[in-house]
Amino acid sequence: MNTQIDNLLHENRQFAPTEEFASNAVAQPSLYEEAAADRLGFWAKQARELITWETPFTKTLDWSNPPFATWFDDGTLNVAYNCLDRHVEAGNGDRVAIYWEGEPGDTREITYAQLTEEVKKAANVLTDLGIGHGDRVAIYMPMIPEAVISMLAVARIGAIHSVVFGGFSSDSLRSRIDDAEAKLVITADGGWRKGKVSSLKPAVDQALAGKDGDTQKTVEHVLVVKRGENEVDWTEGRDIWWHDVVPSASSDHTAQAFEAENPLYILYTSGTTGKPKGILHTSGGYLTQAAFTHRNVFDLHPESDVFWCTADIGWVTGHTYVVYGPLANGATQVMYEGTPESPHQGRWWEIIEKYGVSIFYAAPTAIRSFMKIGRQVPQEFDLSSIRVLGSVGEPINPEAWMWYRNVIGGGSAPIVDTWWQTETGAIMVSPLPGITATKPGSAQVALPGISITVLDESGNPVSNGNGGLLVIDEPWPAMLRGIWGDPERYKETYWEKFGDKYFAGDGARLDEDGDVWLLGRVDDVMNISGHRLSTAEIESALVANEMVAEAAVVGASDETTGQAVVAFVIIKQSHLDEAEQIADIASSLRSWVGEQIGPIARPREVFVVNELPKTRSGKIMRRLLRDLAEGREVGDTTTLADTMVMKVISDQVRS
Ligand code: PRX
Repeated sequence: MNTQIDNLLHENRQFAPTEEFASNAVAQPSLYEEAAADRLGFWAKQARELITWETPFTKTLDWSNPPFATWFDDGTLNVAYNCLDRHVEAGNGDRVAIYWEGEPGDTREITYAQLTEEVKKAANVLTDLGIGHGDRVAIYMPMIPEAVISMLAVARIGAIHSVVFGGFSSDSLRSRIDDAEAKLVITADGGWRKGKVSSLKPAVDQALAGKDGDTQKTVEHVLVVKRGENEVDWTEGRDIWWHDVVPSASSDHTAQAFEAENPLYILYTSGTTGKPKGILHTSGGYLTQAAFTHRNVFDLHPESDVFWCTADIGWVTGHTYVVYGPLANGATQVMYEGTPESPHQGRWWEIIEKYGVSIFYAAPTAIRSFMKIGRQVPQEFDLSSIRVLGSVGEPINPEAWMWYRNVIGGGSAPIVDTWWQTETGAIMVSPLPGITATKPGSAQVALPGISITVLDESGNPVSNGNGGLLVIDEPWPAMLRGIWGDPERYKETYWEKFGDKYFAGDGARLDEDGDVWLLGRVDDVMNISGHRLSTAEIESALVANEMVAEAAVVGASDETTGQAVVAFVIIKQSHLDEAEQIADIASSLRSWVGEQIGPIARPREVFVVNELPKTRSGKIMRRLLRDLAEGREVGDTTTLADTMVMKVISDQVRS
């Protein structure tokens, strides 16, 4: 990793904004000055300018009880009103909010007026179903407009959504429903992916039925959108078709204001233990930073731009840059249901041409897989509408960055490499187009109003040219407010290592100019295609299989997906005695993990071994397994309880 990074740091290409871009840019250099002069005053000004408050706030930040922050505490607002009604009231009801493209090619065009009406109807239905302020609603949906409508309807009535990525298994869904004690699940029969319908409702049925009679107890209803037209089972009294209740509901609904700190959503993300953490976000601060970053980082001109963030709503990027940021800013955006290669490899570029997308936000994994296919595919389409490109979720290597700029961005579009996390709620580190001279591969600078630093293990700031741990040293408006139901874990995970500073879990280096280069996670969290998975989560899925005695999982670097899951397992003697083929065991365990957690967690490789490398205190030395998985010489083994063990494992893996 370090040699790779050393090479990166010799990257000396820089792309300054053109004068024309800079003079029309939304973000002006004065933003940095204003924020440096009065950080809290700066955020208060953004909150007043970008958000409509029912009751204006008088307090900005309360940090008297760290790490529990409140922002704009005495203000009240309605998040959905800010994303919908106020745009209609301002005369922009006819503006398209969403150009939706289904994977099979069906389309819907939804204006702000129509979206507002739909959300009002859905809000009335939720109220009729007994959902009220503070109740939790799980959303398990494909990328269809009803997913956005559901999130906003929940927000509108002051309830809390917990969106679960549609690619997660019924077990993963169940544990999230249980943890949040959801009262309602909103889902669809199925959605289109890779040319066929992928069902969702059966996973909800399974999750609620549980195993061995362990029926879920808090969910009262399941609201089901018809999308896939696939056959689904029906539980009378519990299940309700969306089309039976929402279209006929009243569209009369006045948004009530809630406190700025009213919880908006819980989003589960992997940590270093097997149990995902329910990251809690609230309303006023979150919406302020979502709107501010969406406007300034992407240089949004809402009257003329067409924005497209390709993330699924099941991830935080989909929350902040498909739903809350763009809609709070009255932007017009594209939403696409399917996968990039369906029905042909140019699908994304065709969509950009069709809708004249001007701001495009995607993940490096996708860019690298398009690079592999070759530039001839995007070159068949007119991408001249593109003026800003964004990258998120994982480090982008300079080669992919240059390809993105040249092939997708016509050799001139600025790229914003945006670093942030589920926990940060919104972008924290990124160039600002029109201001920053960009460098291929670097996320560069903290946004105005955000304060970060890179510290060494003992908490001292590193100087330029050196690496360390990325830390956020001042609270920020969109920060997580905690882990659902577990304040202790919140403190331990993020706030113990460096006292009252937030430890992000990422390594970073500062170059000679002080620009930040992200180096990936320093904990046992993996980043697969920009999605977070923990080694512990996959290990516990593996040991839940009756064949497995012990398991160790590492994230090994992968040319396309950044990292890939590689598992090492010890199989119980009884199963080996049954003479099951090692290859069959490996392949059945790969599928097993896919079924337990979801296809994204399926290991690229499973190696069956006799032993695992452990220290004298029994800790698995993942570093050594990573060396092996990445085909390197195995590093220092002196701390192993049995120094020969790596030789045995290497022989087994390489045989
Ligand atoms: O390791 C960092 C990486 O993704 C992690 C956060 O994952 P998640 O909460 O799923 O959110 C992903 C989308 C915001 C971080 O700890 N990461 C995110 N953005 C970047 C990145 N690594 C390098 N460069 C980025 N731009």
